[in-house]
Amino acid sequence: MRMVDLIIKKREGHALSREEIAFWINGYVKGEIPDYQVSAMNMAILFRGMTEEEVINLTDLMEHSGETLDLSVLRGVKVDKHSTGGVGDKTSLVLGPMVAACGATFAKLSGRGLGHTGGTLDKLESIPGLSIQVSGDRFIKQVNDIGIAIVGQTQSLVPADKKMYALRDVTGTVESIPLIAASVMSKKLAAGTDAILLDVTLGNGAFMKDIDQARTLAKLMVKIGNGLKRDTRAVLSNMNEPLGLAVGNALEVKEAIAALHGNGPEDLMELCYEGGAVMLEQAHIAKNYEEGKAMLEKVVKDGSAFDLFVKMVKAQGGDVEYILHPEKFELAKKIIPILAKEDGYIKELDALEIGLSSCRLGGGRETLDDVIDMSAGIMLVKKVGDQVKKGEPLCYLHTNKGIDVINQETEVVANAYKITKEFVAKPKVVMEIIQ
Ligand code: URA
Repeated sequence: MRMVDLIIKKREGHALSREEIAFWINGYVKGEIPDYQVSAMNMAILFRGMTEEEVINLTDLMEHSGETLDLSVLRGVKVDKHSTGGVGDKTSLVLGPMVAACGATFAKLSGRGLGHTGGTLDKLESIPGLSIQVSGDRFIKQVNDIGIAIVGQTQSLVPADKKMYALRDVTGTVESIPLIAASVMSKKLAAGTDAILLDVTLGNGAFMKDIDQARTLAKLMVKIGNGLKRDTRAVLSNMNEPLGLAVGNALEVKEAIAALHGNGPEDLMELCYEGGAVMLEQAHIAKNYEEGKAMLEKVVKDGSAFDLFVKMVKAQGGDVEYILHPEKFELAKKIIPILAKEDGYIKELDALEIGLSSCRLGGGRETLDDVIDMSAGIMLVKKVGDQVKKGEPLCYLHTNKGIDVINQETEVVANAYKITKEFVAKPKVVMEIIQ
């Protein structure tokens, strides 16, 4: 078999057999097939697509390209959640402790941010002392002891995705439905949980730009997961504007803490309650959505979800004083308001531009080696549907960068807002649930 023949076969729109996909994935992981040929294959898939059978084979071969976790020693139904990426998405930090406080076993392996999207691991690392590098044994012990752990994926899990995702990121091939489905599901399946909730984001801050694409991706992933006996469900969520008000690592952790006290922004609370209620059904803890939602509201109100977050931070070596007194998080030296130039209603708030700007203010990385400024980011004041008066702050830039960056980003962020005279309704964040 030759890789070039498989690339040509896909380029001509034909389906690859399991043996052919195995030749490609195994050869790539062993270093026998070079990046340039895999780039060409990914581009051919982006244009030609894959059949369902091809995606299932690709997912399975990627999942087994390295070690897989066996969580069977853990008690209860193990649940996991995965977002396809967004701006201001701190959902796991809130939803994880909420469902765990209701009795679910929340065992999550998370990733880092790249490009305009943030990553849960970077957010967690803004808590001084907290470690996300935890061995498999310690991960299992922590989940057994307190019911929750959110840690980094080990090097040995799904090496095929690690190599391929980095390659896709620099070859314009991230936005392929079969490749995203195989990438997400291979990691979720290798992580060994019984149930998976997928948050498929859609809009200009997400990889899926419209609801049809997002639905197709969600249905495909749900089918792959259920076909492999994991209860897999998906929520489609709005990522045309950032989630919540905070964008940037420490800023988002502070917002997650507020949300665990029940004081988070409306859209973040809605996503956590709706997604959490689905997870409690998956964990057989709630009989239905309404019961799940009531349980979640109770653990937020009585403080047990927040207490569990404190326990998790402590178990992973973090300084809990920052969680108990979030004002301890260091603020950026420069906090600059962006003011509305006219009266009206916010019609659009471009999530992609806000995400990219937050990165340039120091809050994200362009390459994997860049060091993040944990205090940097953007605090939104106004979001879509809000009324604003000329001269009122739309948001605040938080940065330690110099005047050139500040001048540039002031303009970018001001332009990310579109204001209209007509009334604009607030959008719903959860657009559909697929099960
Ligand atoms: N998230 C992933 O894990 N993989 C993708 O391909 C896209 C988003």
